[in-house]
Amino acid sequence: MCGIIGCTGRAEDTLDVLLSGLEGLEYRGYDSAGVALANGSLEICKRQGELDRLQQAVGNSLRGPVGIGHTRWSTHGPPTDANAHPHTDCTGNVAVVHNGIIENYDELKAELHARGHEFESDTDTEVVPHLIEAALAEGASFEAAFREAVSRLEGSYALAAVTADTEAILATRHDSPLVLGVGDDAAYLASDVPAFLEYTDRVVYLEDDDFARLESGAWTVTDADGQLLDKSVSRVEWDAEETAKSGYDHYMLKEIHEQPRALRKCLRGRVDELTGSIQVDSLEGLSPSSVQFVACGTSYHAALYGAQTLRDAGIPAQAFLASEYATAPAPVGDDALVVGVTQSGETADTLSALREAQRRGVETLAMTNVVGSTATRECDRTLLIRAGPEIGVAATKTFSSQVVACNLLAATIADRGDSREIVEALRDLPGQVQELLDASRAESVAKRFVDSEGYFFIGRGHHHPVALEGALKMKEITYKHAEGFPAGELKHGPLALVTDQTPVFAVVTGDGEEATKTVGNVKEVEARDAPVVAVTDGASDASRYAEAVLEIPETHPQVAPVLANVQLQLVAYHVANELGRSIDKPRNLAKSVTVE
Ligand code: M6R
Repeated sequence: MCGIIGCTGRAEDTLDVLLSGLEGLEYRGYDSAGVALANGSLEICKRQGELDRLQQAVGNSLRGPVGIGHTRWSTHGPPTDANAHPHTDCTGNVAVVHNGIIENYDELKAELHARGHEFESDTDTEVVPHLIEAALAEGASFEAAFREAVSRLEGSYALAAVTADTEAILATRHDSPLVLGVGDDAAYLASDVPAFLEYTDRVVYLEDDDFARLESGAWTVTDADGQLLDKSVSRVEWDAEETAKSGYDHYMLKEIHEQPRALRKCLRGRVDELTGSIQVDSLEGLSPSSVQFVACGTSYHAALYGAQTLRDAGIPAQAFLASEYATAPAPVGDDALVVGVTQSGETADTLSALREAQRRGVETLAMTNVVGSTATRECDRTLLIRAGPEIGVAATKTFSSQVVACNLLAATIADRGDSREIVEALRDLPGQVQELLDASRAESVAKRFVDSEGYFFIGRGHHHPVALEGALKMKEITYKHAEGFPAGELKHGPLALVTDQTPVFAVVTGDGEEATKTVGNVKEVEARDAPVVAVTDGASDASRYAEAVLEIPETHPQVAPVLANVQLQLVAYHVANELGRSIDKPRNLAKSVTVE
């Protein structure tokens, strides 16, 4: 949801650093992009559209030792050149980039307007450079003016500002992420680590209301009163290769193929094959009476899976959409736990639900992929899913890692001692995902059904979240209608929509009662001439009624959803590819949704 990059100390190649940083951040928003470089005057270039339009427009023309850049996901005003960041003041001497929403911008704008300031955009952001300008006009230094401007803002923001005649970037954050990159002779600033990972893996996470000053490659952080803060520098484990496309046509395909490695990393040091036990350091001593999961989108599907897995382990658990959590009942028992499942750790709805849980006095756990994210800093505990950076807007490997992490959580807090069966299944899972990736017929299934009117996905029990996730992936990147249902629910209404033009993907594994019932549902759709694609391990006779089969290796019923879901990821990817969609940057979406 908008990306910020800034750098000082690079002398000649500031523009290159900004543009490559914006490439690394484009998944956060891609409506428009812009840069500003300071070198005695401000040179600004911004363009509506994807980053290549800015790259073409800017050429190699801008120079300066200090620069900031931005890629936008529109909230206030359509994607136009004028609404693109950076935004400037009346004099053109102050430039600002911003993520988040300034809630009181209307009244600030009216006040500034009355004082003679002229505005050029529809954005909330534009009030900030004008507030800085107003303070500078009263004799304040750049830093004092920046602080004065920030003190007037309500809402959420990560902000970075430059002026024509200072070689410094000033930045601050409130409810929106911002991280410093520490280079040898350069200092970087970004809303997300991948933006500068090519240059440094040393980072300083800013807290809410920290103020950073980056100047001539050095940096300092102060609090709201200007007191110097002693911030620790940490190293991120991701490397630049993980954020490159590495020969794949799309990040999404690369990330689908990274799943064996991601799952191994998630499990490393946490499962003991000899004793059959599972131990996660950050969960030590945790023994909740009940668990509530809060999450959005794909992470919500993982949360649904997690809740069922905990219930199966004897722990009362429910999953809630984070945006609806305010109306959820309080968790049961004195030792309840609320788990925020969030890849980015920055999703505003999820953070807000976690804060609601904290207001209710409940212990919180962040299940996330991003070290140092807001969720990790605000929650009592963190369970890292260790999937590595995910750039494609459509979540893939992080879902698989979340599902595995839910198993680790269940095994740890259910405290059943011997988790041998699940440990063995988890141990074999990365290899089985690889096997599936090597043999998948998803591409030919996608080609067969690319022109279909719409797609349905059904699954029962642990496969219900997979059906929902299969449909979400399909609609997100193909822009075609897709719905997922619990298998038994189809006949209670949605069946009216099923025709020979709407393939039904049925996830069925094992040969138990659940599978038998789902096969019954498969027969119902097959009898209405709908083509069925069975996603199955072959244990039931679902394939008999299917026009196409996507095979998955046999495994523990609790682990099978990961494998089934990988097949559905591939189908969605190949349908979208056939349709020529913008797979990594689907229209209207952004990777990290930092507004409620
Ligand atoms: O970063 P989070 O996991 O909190 O993000 C939640 C959703 O916005 C995210 O899963 C979204 O649904 C994905 N684009 C799905 O592919």
